[in-house]
Amino acid sequence: MSELLVSGGQVLRPDMRVERRDVLVDQSSGDIVAVDEPGTLAGEDELDASNGLVIPGLVNAHTHVAMTLLRGYADDKPLDAWLREDIWPVEAELTAEDVRVGAQLGLAEMIKSGTTHLSDMYFHVEEIADAVEQAGLRAVLGHTAVTVGKGEDDARADLQQSLDVARRLDGTADGRITTTFQPHSLTTVGETYLRAVVPTANEAGLPIHLHANETTDEVDPIVDEHGTRPLAYADDLGLLGSDTYVAHGVHVDDSEIELLAETGTGVAHCPASNMKLASGMAPVQDLLDAGVTVGLGTDGAASNNDLSMFGEMRDAAMLGKLAADDASAMAAETVVTMATAGGAELLGFDSGRIEVGENADLAVVDLDAAHLTPGHDLVSHLVYAATGSDVRHTVCDGAVLMRDRVVEPFDETAVLARAAEHATALVERATET
Ligand code: NI
Repeated sequence: MSELLVSGGQVLRPDMRVERRDVLVDQSSGDIVAVDEPGTLAGEDELDASNGLVIPGLVNAHTHVAMTLLRGYADDKPLDAWLREDIWPVEAELTAEDVRVGAQLGLAEMIKSGTTHLSDMYFHVEEIADAVEQAGLRAVLGHTAVTVGKGEDDARADLQQSLDVARRLDGTADGRITTTFQPHSLTTVGETYLRAVVPTANEAGLPIHLHANETTDEVDPIVDEHGTRPLAYADDLGLLGSDTYVAHGVHVDDSEIELLAETGTGVAHCPASNMKLASGMAPVQDLLDAGVTVGLGTDGAASNNDLSMFGEMRDAAMLGKLAADDASAMAAETVVTMATAGGAELLGFDSGRIEVGENADLAVVDLDAAHLTPGHDLVSHLVYAATGSDVRHTVCDGAVLMRDRVVEPFDETAVLARAAEHATALVERATET
């Protein structure tokens, strides 16, 4: 049995206390096997956490990882125009190889900023799964189905593919990959199709991940057409439940917050994307107060524009206070929980807590920095002062993914170079046509 010792650091415990502890990881099971007084444990391999804070690996609950290729390609536009004029024309040119390379770039960025889990929505999912398997993270993947603008056969085939991919990839990469069935949103997948396919997904026990209530443009047409709020419509379709989480949930009214809580449906909150696209302010404190499980996501790199969960935590705290008109809303501990245990619960992994028996998914944040001095409150630092580049080591499933800022599973320099080449060629193809 090979054991990894994370030694000499302070450890963020599940109750948000910070204690001086060493952490021992069994690399064959991928579990944390001991959290104990400094100097009392030993392992064959060791990560130096001195002057560092050991935290659970961060959980990115909603992203489109391959969209790193479109980072900075089009900014400063509202969602609808941005999608139609800029993003969709380029995405139409994406090859399977582009998606693989874009995913590798995004996974490199995640490892470097302490993220060990992602929930992704995209296409060419086999390529993303291969990249995840190689990079060593945990991921919930799925093929995102859209039916608007498609003929009936293509629309049905797209939804069938979402079902097939969810069945095929579940449990791959030694169980690090699980899956969801993914209708893109309530306005981009037609009602007839949803009524036909959602029962099949539910009978197969497939978890569901969709965009919902992101902008008023997604809410108003449903209210007009169905005379009911979008999430009541989703519930009627059989889309809500304890295995479902919706991305965004910005424009939810009190009845919808209650419905989310009643059905056990979770929310992946994406504050940076919501601000950048001026989508609105999600009532996150109200969702939490109602008992809804909330995780935190970056959304795609084209609308953020990075995949660091540190920036996302800061944005969640700041925007949450503004939304609640209350500086005590979305306190640092609440936000850190959303980015760790909350996200892990949403995604269905036994992660997000540094404790014996949990998955050994963790990161070590280097505290030896001007912007993290003094250390009055390290939980506060995680949300308000730290950045992704403060992460010294990243571990997932007991394997070291980054040691002293060096990514171990793959050649980071080569991945960055290849991604830059693919991104340039992609935009050339898209703007030629
Ligand atoms: Ni999204």
